[in-house]
Parts: sequence; C-alpha cells; structure tokens
Amino acid sequence: MKELNEAIRKWGKAIGKDVVKVDMFLNHRIDTALIFRMGEELADRFASARPDLILTVEASGIALALACARALGNIPVVFAKKGSTVVQNEEMVTSKVYSFTHKTENTIRVDRRYLPKGSRVLIVDDFLADGQAVRGMTDLCVQAGCTVCGVGIGIEKGFQSGGDTLRRQGTDLYSLAIVDHIDEKGNICLREA
Ligand code: G4P
Repeated sequence: MKELNEAIRKWGKAIGKDVVKVDMFLNHRIDTALIFRMGEELADRFASARPDLILTVEASGIALALACARALGNIPVVFAKKGSTVVQNEEMVTSKVYSFTHKTENTIRVDRRYLPKGSRVLIVDDFLADGQAVRGMTDLCVQAGCTVCGVGIGIEKGFQSGGDTLRRQGTDLYSLAIVDHIDEKGNICLREA
C-alpha cells in the first residue's frame, strides 16, 4: 500500500537487523488518516470473505482492527486479552503465545460469548513476525467453533517465518506492506508489489 510504504520510508527506524520501529504513526502515536486508509484497504480485500467479526490482540492491533471493522460496515471488533485473570473458567478460550521479539510467553484469552460458534472471523494485527499471535488467535477460533476467513496485517516482516508459513498452510493472508530486510546501513528495504 503506497501510503503505508511512504510512511515506513519517512518515519520507520530500524533497531538492529530485525526490528522496525514505527511509533510515529502506528505503535505510539497513530496517524488517523493513514490508519483509516489501511482499514479500508483491508476491508476491500476481505469484504468478499463476509466476516462476521474481527479478532485482534491487545494493544496495537486494536486501532487497525477498528478501522477495518468500520469500513466493513461496523462489524464488531473482539480483542484477545493478554495475561492471566482471576476469572478463569470454561467460558474462556485461551492459548499460549510465545513472543520471539520479547522472549516472553503470554496467555491470550477471549470470552466465548464474543466468539459465537459458527462465526466467520477475520484476524487483523499490526505486525506479523513469526506468526505466533496469529497462530494463537486461530487456536482461539478453533476452540470456539469459528472459521478464520482471512488474516489482514499492517506490516509483515518478510524475513521472518510467519508469512511464508501461513501462506504454505493455505491461509488467505494479505499484508499492506512487507519489509523484505534491513540492510547493513540500517535501511528498511520494502518488498514492492
Ligand atoms: P509474532 O506474533 O508474529 O510471532 O511476533 P512476535 O511475537 O515476535 O511479536 C510480539 C510483539 O512485537 C507484537 O506486539 C508485535 O506486533 C510486535 N512486533 C514484532 N516485530 C516488530 C517490529 O519489528 N516492530 C514493531 N513495532 N513491533 C513488532 P505486542 O508485544 O503484542 O505489543 P503491543 O501490541 O501490545 O504493542
């Protein structure tokens, strides 16, 4: 997506060889016009999949999920919560997600009431790296008896395994921008469509 690629080129900062910092428009400060354009682009791509709801994970996925849900005609956004809770019961579906970026394991959870059995779910997230968050959200959908009808991503890190694995598994995955690699000088190199 042209506008997103431009924002990454203008504001993105490489941290080492594998982290793309985009706090200026996505992860700390949000560029409202851009996030709604991103949401529209994902909505155009996935409208024919007829999602009943969008599933994302707190925190940074929520803004893009909301923008996309709005463009899909105000379908609900459900965000998986992280960490444990006092109320753990069979009403809750949970999955363990290991983050290679943070080297931590999180439990993500959603109340079954918000993932009604038989729903068609579009998974949306801001970043795709190794795909653990998407795997965990897919697991929640399976436990709740829902169908994942697509995965929409803001920025995919093409040099990590998540995108290739999901495509190989036949997932309908669409990423608005793909970072091919970070070069020796710290330039963020984008994969052009
Ligand atoms: P994975 O789900 O694809 O396997 O990714 P991973 O566990 O490695 O990523 C964990 C967190 O780090 C996620 O957010 C993800 O969005 C974010 N992340 C991964 N790589 C990058 C990157 O290069 N740049 C930025 N800006 N974020 C990245 P999170 O920890 O759940 O944080 P938040 O949503 O609460 O902000």
